[in-house]
Amino acid sequence: MIVLGIESSCDETAAAVVSDGHQILSSVVASQVAVHHPYGGVVPELASRKHIEAIVPVVNDAIADAGITADQIDGVAVTQGPGLVGSLLVGFSFAKGFAYGHGIPWIGVDHLEGHVNSVFLTPDPPTFPFVALLVSGGHTSIYHVTAHRAFHPMGQTRDDAAGEAYDKVAKMLGLGYPGGVVIDRLAAQGDPSKVFFTRPFLDKNQFDFSFSGIKSAVSRYIQTHPETDQEDHANIAAGFQAAVVEVLSHKIIRAALEKGCRHLAVVGGVAANQGLRKVVSRDAAEAGITVHIPSLDLCGDNAAMVAVVGYHRLKAGEHAGMDDDVYSRIKFRPGR
Ligand code: KG4
Ligand code: ZN
Repeated sequence: MIVLGIESSCDETAAAVVSDGHQILSSVVASQVAVHHPYGGVVPELASRKHIEAIVPVVNDAIADAGITADQIDGVAVTQGPGLVGSLLVGFSFAKGFAYGHGIPWIGVDHLEGHVNSVFLTPDPPTFPFVALLVSGGHTSIYHVTAHRAFHPMGQTRDDAAGEAYDKVAKMLGLGYPGGVVIDRLAAQGDPSKVFFTRPFLDKNQFDFSFSGIKSAVSRYIQTHPETDQEDHANIAAGFQAAVVEVLSHKIIRAALEKGCRHLAVVGGVAANQGLRKVVSRDAAEAGITVHIPSLDLCGDNAAMVAVVGYHRLKAGEHAGMDDDVYSRIKFRPGR
């Protein structure tokens, strides 16, 4: 079954063609980073307008890159939420029209469910059950995943998402938006032992997170050390990253052990973090757990992950109707 995936929940317009829920025939992502960069964050109205400009060429490119014609597509999967309503509406309305025009079924997909399923696009996907750490700009959660579409939340952030903390720390250091990848690179040049930040574990045996305290600690450090140079900035980035990564790694491995899972997955934009990939892989190996992390291009927002979920739902006979609408807030129900 060939599924066209479409994603437009935030600042990336993406389309992908995926065969049988695991083989990527094409994946196109048009980033709006340059548009939002001057504002230090995503401007919703600008994002919607850019999606409108990009959606047709991005979908056409995805179909051409896949080496197929539009009439070979069996179904369409599109992100329904959560995200920016104006942005979501562009992809969602396009998908509705495309499916109607071609007389094929379509389905709305949860963005978070998409991220978790991105791990099935890796050459060696996990076997059920496994635990998944979803770390992105909007979410930080741990799920016990017992089947493709059965997610049981074990914990989540009580305030900022990990990626949000990265973006805010980057802003404090004058590194622009989005900051995760810049902090990651800077941290590699710094010494994490020079600037210590308290690890925000909350309860070491629970799976909730809190990242607003460490963000404030970085802000206080910068305010009380006004004479910092480039080397100090690298040490601050390294100290911040070490603290965040230690907590993320501890909790996902603890979750795997509690559920007796031999496999764990790390997904979402922050899963691209080199420090996190290294530490989780090291700690999991010590605990005898196999780690699955998608390639860098599948960590951030993309449409291939949306097509994976769409494939399983369309195959199960589900499809959306013309009255269906997008949703902005998290709607991830346990045990579906
Ligand atoms: O999954 P994603 O593309 O969008 C959301 O669904 O939120 O995640 C974007 C987030 C941003 O906060 C970005 O700064 C962060 O992922 N990010 C990183 C890295 N690359 C992207 N954070 C830390 N290290 C990275 N290498
Ligand atoms: Zn995302």
